[in-house]
Amino acid sequence: MSAKSPQEQKIEAAREALRSVRSGMSLGLGTGSTAKEFVTLLGDALKRGDLRDIRCTCTSNQTEEQARSLNIPLFALAQIAPLDLAIDGADEIDAQLRLIKGRGGALLREKIVEQQAKRFIVIADESKVVARLGVGVLPVEVTPFALDVLHARFTSMGLNPVLRLRDGEPRITDEGHRILDVRVPDTPDIASLVADLRELAGVVETGFFPTEASEALIATADGVRRMVR
Ligand code: A5P
Repeated sequence: MSAKSPQEQKIEAAREALRSVRSGMSLGLGTGSTAKEFVTLLGDALKRGDLRDIRCTCTSNQTEEQARSLNIPLFALAQIAPLDLAIDGADEIDAQLRLIKGRGGALLREKIVEQQAKRFIVIADESKVVARLGVGVLPVEVTPFALDVLHARFTSMGLNPVLRLRDGEPRITDEGHRILDVRVPDTPDIASLVADLRELAGVVETGFFPTEASEALIATADGVRRMVR
């Protein structure tokens, strides 16, 4: 049998996560290509009548658009919080279930929604598991007013900031901010770097999710592996 592609692995992880959803639950729906598979499966399950009375809130306008197109019942976060469950992807996952998220640009809403969930399941293909967080960039969401000064400050900190673009223009987040992608140096640990960044006015949020995830479903060539906090 041929090895599963990352896309097939994403679907497998999403399918496994759907097994935790029960009728009557309130759900937070994530953003990105893996979360998209989950939303598709959820829409199918609702359409078939396998699940009923599900109330959802979304972590981005993009997910909201997809959920609407599938007739998934949507609510404002405050209407249904605390959420029974949130399901979302991640860019990097370490052995302590700490995450880097936000390469899809939705980190702020994701963290708000996922902190309102009693349980947050991360779904991912095995390429997302890393020995040390910071293999790729750490997204930092900043206010437009502070963008240039924070860019200069991050540069002086050796973080090599890069302004996130979309179609050649600065990416504007759903909350109207900008994103600077920074390099995570070898030392110190990412947690102390993030603490330093959060001291700076104008930094709204970072893509470091130290404690939010309660478990991760990692699709591998040998099936889905469950990591629990
Ligand atoms: C969106 O802002 C991100 O946090 C995504 O959850 C993350 O980038 C994972 O996306 P993929 O599932 O597309 O890899």
